[in-house]
Amino acid sequence: AAAVRYEAERSPAVCSGAIESEWGGYSDTGFCNAGNAVGAHAQFTVNAAAAGTATVQVRFANGTTTARPANVTVSGSAAGSASFQGTGTWATWATKTLTVPVRAGSNTIQLSPTTATGLPNIDYVDV
Ligand code: GCU
Repeated sequence: AAAVRYEAERSPAVCSGAIESEWGGYSDTGFCNAGNAVGAHAQFTVNAAAAGTATVQVRFANGTTTARPANVTVSGSAAGSASFQGTGTWATWATKTLTVPVRAGSNTIQLSPTTATGLPNIDYVDV
């Protein structure tokens, strides 16, 4: 099936920091700046047609030269990690592809940084 886009700034997505729009190139009306702290998060509620594995494409920008690592959880269970490399500028967006286990129906996918540098800015996920 075609991927569905879930914007970080649209409920029921949750952003622990602020929805911002100061850097260009984002989709829709803005992006999530989750904050620079362990415990920050960007969370998406996504639908899966069937149990199995889902491909999650995360659009992000990291205007630093240091990768930002994150834990991934699905509906509260650990589902791997991701490292969001520097993209050059905050207005330069890239896509990180994750593969996570899902159950049929609603799943909550959360990205949370493992260091106090925080997450990159998060625009959306395509699932
Ligand atoms: C800057 C930038 C933000 C970004 C932040 C960060 O403040 O303007 O968009 O989220 O750095 O380091 O995470």
